[in-house]
Amino acid sequence: MLTIRGFRPTDLPQVKRLSDRTLGEPYDPNIFSIIHRTQPEGFIVACYGDEIVGFALAVREEGWLRILMLSVSERWRRKGIGSALLEEITSRFRGKGLKGITLEVRVSNHEAISFYHKRGFATVELLHGYYTDGGPAYRMVKMGPW
Ligand SMILES: CC(C)(COP(=O)(O)OP(=O)(O)OC[C@H]1O[C@@H](n2cnc3c(N)ncnc32)[C@H](O)[C@@H]1OP(=O)(O)O)[C@@H](O)C(=O)NCCC(=O)NCCS
Repeated sequence: MLTIRGFRPTDLPQVKRLSDRTLGEPYDPNIFSIIHRTQPEGFIVACYGDEIVGFALAVREEGWLRILMLSVSERWRRKGIGSALLEEITSRFRGKGLKGITLEVRVSNHEAISFYHKRGFATVELLHGYYTDGGPAYRMVKMGPW
């Protein structure tokens, strides 16, 4: 059975591997423990037993909920796990007066752009040179309340 729960420090190696493999951006590994320490409600994982199959990381920033990472392991995709993670992470911040939800996604990442469009996000801005490798991003936004 799929379980979605808060991140625990023992999840770190699996989350880090998933992030390295699927997100295409070399994040500072300290980001995971910093968010877990400062905004633990914004860090969740999806698992089957001991296997972490996805995770999401979001923070409150200047009156918005900002999704920093959302990832599902390749062989578990298109089964609703990404949607379940998005629903859980956003519901944790529902009713807290935030203006909306914001995130950045690689312009070439058609799967994720389609995923977010279907879930009510709009593309609002093109960010040139956003990623470490110089690649561009779209900023996507879903206005609150949600
Ligand atoms: C984006 C991502 C989280 C979606 O996770 P998921 O578990 O597959 O999502 P769900 O099963 O809930 O929803 C799948 C939806 O994504 C979109 N999608 C996924 N793959 C797609 C593809 N190859 N072509 C078009 N749309 C696609 C569709 O809208 C699809 O809905 P559908 O199955 O009803 O057509 C996952 O693809 C992923 O981890 N990608 C790599 C990391 C990433 O890009 N993260 C987002 C940027 S932070």
